[in-house]
Formats: sequence, C-alpha cells, structure tokens
Amino acid sequence: MKTASSHGSKENLPIELLSWDEAYYKAEKIVSRMSLKQKVDITTGTGWQKGLCVGNTFGTKKPNFPSLCLQDAPLGVSFADNVTAGVSGMNAAASFDKKAIYARAEYMGKEFRGKGVNVYLGPYINMIRVPEGGRNWEGGTEDPYLMGIVAAETVKGIQDQGVIASAKHFILNEQELNRNSSSSNIDARTLHEIYLWPFARVIEAGIGSIMCSFNKVNGTYACENDYLLNTILRKELGFRGFVCSDWFATTSTGAVKSGLDMNMPGEISLENYDTYFGHNLIKAAESKNVPEDRITDMANRIVTTWFKMRQDQNFPDTALNAFHMEYAPFKNVQENHKELVRELGAASNVLLKNTKNVLPLDLNKVKTAAIIGSDAGPNTNSLNCFLNGCTGGTLMEGWGSGTVYFPYAVDPLAGLTKAFGNKINIKSTLNDWDLQKAVEIARGADYAFVFSNSNSGEEIISVEDTMGDRNNLSLWHNGDKLINAVADVNNNTIVVIHSVGPVLMPWINHPNITAVLWPGLPGQESGNSLADVVTGKVNPSGRLPYTIGKNYIDYNAHINTSDAIEYSEKLLVGYKWFDSANIEPLFPFGYGLSYTKFDYRDLRVGVNASVRHSSTGSKTITDVTVITTIYVLNSGSVDGAEIVQAYLSFPDSTESPPKHLRGFEKAFLRRGEEKNILFELNKSELSIWDTFSNRWKIPSGNFTIHIGASSRDIREIMTFTI
Ligand code: NOJ
Repeated sequence: MKTASSHGSKENLPIELLSWDEAYYKAEKIVSRMSLKQKVDITTGTGWQKGLCVGNTFGTKKPNFPSLCLQDAPLGVSFADNVTAGVSGMNAAASFDKKAIYARAEYMGKEFRGKGVNVYLGPYINMIRVPEGGRNWEGGTEDPYLMGIVAAETVKGIQDQGVIASAKHFILNEQELNRNSSSSNIDARTLHEIYLWPFARVIEAGIGSIMCSFNKVNGTYACENDYLLNTILRKELGFRGFVCSDWFATTSTGAVKSGLDMNMPGEISLENYDTYFGHNLIKAAESKNVPEDRITDMANRIVTTWFKMRQDQNFPDTALNAFHMEYAPFKNVQENHKELVRELGAASNVLLKNTKNVLPLDLNKVKTAAIIGSDAGPNTNSLNCFLNGCTGGTLMEGWGSGTVYFPYAVDPLAGLTKAFGNKINIKSTLNDWDLQKAVEIARGADYAFVFSNSNSGEEIISVEDTMGDRNNLSLWHNGDKLINAVADVNNNTIVVIHSVGPVLMPWINHPNITAVLWPGLPGQESGNSLADVVTGKVNPSGRLPYTIGKNYIDYNAHINTSDAIEYSEKLLVGYKWFDSANIEPLFPFGYGLSYTKFDYRDLRVGVNASVRHSSTGSKTITDVTVITTIYVLNSGSVDGAEIVQAYLSFPDSTESPPKHLRGFEKAFLRRGEEKNILFELNKSELSIWDTFSNRWKIPSGNFTIHIGASSRDIREIMTFTI
C-alpha cells in the first residue's frame, strides 16, 4: 500500500492507493451484481460531445457505479478554465530531473482531481522516431530509458492524487500522417527494447489504464491486436488495469476478445453513430460470439482501477464542461502551481551555445537590448483558439488534443522587460518579415535577442499548411533570415528557439551569435522562466532530449507517406543511429551548457551477479546488480546542477547500438562542492530482448559503462564482465 501526501481539504484527503488484489476484491463484489447490460454500459462511451468530458462512460444504478470522466491532456486539464497551463512533456524530459517531473505530475493530478476528472489521458509516451512527428512535443524524447523515467514519475504523481492515468498511444503511433490506416511494421526485439520499454515502466509504476492507438501494428489494428493487448500487455507485462481505445480507434466488436476493455468516445465514427460496444456488444454476448466472462473481466478491470485509486471516497464532482465551457461551474484549481511552472520552464531550458560566457547578462553592465521576432511577443490571435490551432506570437504549446487553455501567458518580451527593470533599455519589433526594421533596432543595441519557433500538432487541425507532422525541420516565419539579418549587425546576438522538436540551425556558426537557448514549450510562465535563466537567477541544467542534426538527411527516419511504415532502422533510433553511423550531430542527445563547470573523477564499478548452473554444465545469469559511482565537482564560479549521465554498451555478440542511456542523476552542487554520484543498474537495464527464447536475457561478456555530461561528452569509461 502506498501513501500519498495529505492536503487538508475534504476532497484532498490523504489517498491510500489500494493494491490490485485489494481493489479487485472490492470490484468483484459489485460487478458480480451487475447485469450484462450494466457491465457493457460501464465499458461504453456515451458518445462524442455527449457528456461533460472528452470521454464519458455510462454509469449504473443498483449496483451504483458512476459515469467516468476522461479528459486530456498531457500538460494540463483541457477545455477548462481556471487551470494551469504547464510545460510540455518534452520539457519534462529535458529537465532530466526526476523530482521535478514527479512534482509536475503531482500538481496536475491535483488539478484533474479538483475538476473531478477520473482519467487523465496521458502521459504521451510514443517515441521521437522521426524528428517531424507532429505530437513529439507531448512526450518528447528519442530515448526509451528517459521516456520510461518521465512516464513512470508522471504516472506516480498523477495517481498519487487518486486520478487514473492512461498512457498513450499503444503502440507505434510515431507520426500523424495516415495514422488511421497505416501499419507500423516492426520486429520483436525493436518493439521490446525501444517502444515497449516506457509502457513496461508505467505498468511497473501501477498505471490504471492504457490507450490503444489508431494505427495497425504488423497488419492488425492496435485496438484489436491480440498479441499486443493479451500476450504482451497482460501476460508478459502483467497489466491489471483497462485498455481504452483512442477516440474512434475501435474497429470491431470482436476487439474485446483481443483485449479491448473500453470504447471511446462511443460511436463508430463521426459519421456513423452506431457503436461497436453498447447494444452490439450485448448482442454479441447473447449470441455467444463474445463470452460473457470476457465482458465481466472488462467491467472488473474498470471497477478495480477505480477502487485502486480510491475514487470511491470523496471524489469531487466533475467541474468542467468540455464542449460548453460557459456552463462549467466555477472552480479554480490553480493554487500556486504557476510557481512550479516557472521553475520547470527554467529547469528545462537548454543552453546550446554561450561563447565567452555572454550569459548570464550582467544587468549592471548591459545598457540596451533589442528584442526581435513575433515569437517574443504575445499571442496575436486569441490566446485560446480552438485546440491552439492558430499561430502568431510566442509558442508555448503545439496544437491538438494535447493542449490546454491558458489562464494568462507571460510572453518573453513581458518577462524580460520585467526582469530588466529600469536597468536595461529595450527596443523591440515583433515583425518577422521586416528585416530592415529588425536590423535598425539590432544595430545600436548592446545585445540583440532574436526569437523564432517551429510548431506542429495533431492531424485533426492543419496550421499554415502543416497537417500535423512538420513539413520540414526549418524555423517558421522567416526565422533563419531574421536571425542572420540580426546577427550580421549585432555582435552579441542571442537566439531563442521555441520548438516542438529539433530544428536545423544553418546560422549556428555565425560569429556574432554568441548564445542560443532552447526553452522548448514552456507554458504560461514562459517569459519569467526565460528571464530567470538569462539573468542567472537560475543556472541552466536542461539537456536535449533528442539529437539535433546538422542536416535533414543526417536523420535515418522521416515521415513515411505510404501505408506501410517499416521500422527498418530497428534499434538505431536517435543518438543510437548517429553513434553507429558516426555522424557528428550539431548538438547531441543529453547536451546542454551550464554557467559553471563540472569535473568528473574516480569512476568505480562493482558487479554482483547470481548465476544458475544447469546439470549439463551451462550457466544462466539469473540476476545482476551493477553499482557505479563517480565523483563530480563543481569547479566553476557559481552554484549549479549537473545532469550526470550513464550510458551502457552491451557485449559485441548482442549486436546492440554503441550505447544506451541507462541512468541519469541531477546533482546540485555549490561552487567548489563535490559529490559522489551513484547509479544502480539492475536486470532490466542490463538485458536485451532475446528473440530466440522470447524473453529478456542478461547477455554474458564485456560491458562498458560510460559516464559523462552528454551522449558525446563521455568523461570516464570502465569495462566490466558478466
Ligand atoms: C485523440 C488523441 O489521439 C488522443 O491522444 C486523445 O486523448 C483523444 N483524441 C481524446 O481527445
């Protein structure tokens, strides 16, 4: 049993999550009294826009079970007022900070609970396989280990508030184009080592729900894929919660036999108002096409999850109205969460370039600054257009169901203006196309800040000819030209990029560009978080959660326009590809600068393995723990945090990519302070998927541990043998 922190009010009584067995025991008592129709009702969505939330199930009377409210999104409560618009999942990943990731999820969990949402439709844990993937920013990394940590901490933070998390999208939904018709084709090893990894971690974290995706996997739709839902999720990973369909992703009534438990939002499609569940599922059970036991199991899974999160006790009434926000009761759940958003925005900001330590700015020396580019300014459309499918102004989130409405936004110009106070005189232009004006303003200033962005989202909306996935990796709105024009006339040009993923930076070596910052998608406190880093109030410690290539062709996977998406690069996703093909990235995975300097010394590795000897003399490694320690010293002139990263190379015989992230720690060190950092690698971190035996296996041979400050800045290595 797990105890979450307590919080005063009745709605927020300390929540003791039940174990699966305890919850199942309670659920069975109720479900055993339900009729076939009642059991079907609690698995069936009420219909699109028929209910208070983006998804709603039918409730039952005698026995009583409530209608459940399912609501987006990964970065805050969607379609609701008086909620916090936080940083993106990609920013959470860029923080490389487990505590901050948990804290983010915890405050979101409080807000979802406060609004009476039973199921948080996240975290988004698909991988950045193709840099243009429209929804990459909702989750945000190319590395399964990092995604696994972000995902597990998020699930814990959300569920500790008694809200069910629904990790999505299961599985191989890495691009928007053709997401309803394409088949993602993959081999078992790649599936396990890359794409299943984060799902395995959320199941270990006790997740209540998993959302199956629109696409097919190896030819069969994910939501009716017996191998994925029954063999993998249930048997292999021991998942005890319920599988919910993505919206209109159910493709047959028979899908329930393959492991689908809940149908959302209810109808077959936006055009076909019939349902695969509801009366059709009842009919299928009556005609014995679907065993009633399976429907009982579906109901049990839903009710069990509800009990596990203690939603039977003091769960608030739903206080939102997704499609009629004007009728939603007033309920402010923001508390002081904006403070955390500001901290997270700063903690996930990645300093990419800082020539001659131009940052942080010394407010006593700098007299004038130019602030240039529409991305520095307020939203020029309404702050909250439908699902953020509009552009203009600074970029704080992408578009689609993964968005929230902002209660307010501090844009960069406002944030910097406030932070500079009367010490720095600011001139600004928010026009990206008037290069003459930009040059005029930049010319006379001590420093020129130039802002640009690149946006993407979900395919349900098209923005500036972008159907969801990005069309290219270039900056939007004349960004490259604007940056070059400014840099040509100001020898202290500071570039700030808000983007949904990697962008090409053809201007990066311009000698006048002295600093580059990537704040990602920082949410409502954008400008304040940025100012904290620019002025040195916060020493940056964000690290890139993806690789930035020098060229578009350096990436080995792009949007596939056919209906067969071959995951033929196999394990070589992100930096693993760049490493194996020996391509020098512009900025590697895990990279980010600090205002101070860190030195590493004295790497030690200890191995503790258990071996089973068979009667025939062969030996199998049954368990292993590898403990690695290293000293890290802050040898610079200011306090700061280092993200110490541990990468592992498997024995050559495994034919694995050169190295895999297998640990990271954020170590805050005062100036001159040294700490010993410890990594413990266990069976999961040390195994590969053995396609011969169909299980995880600890290979024997020589492993290498690489400890460093990024995937390409390895400070010490050591080899050990298992
Ligand atoms: C479809 C999206 O793919 C999914 O992520 C979202 O949760 C649902 N729509 C509900 O809005």
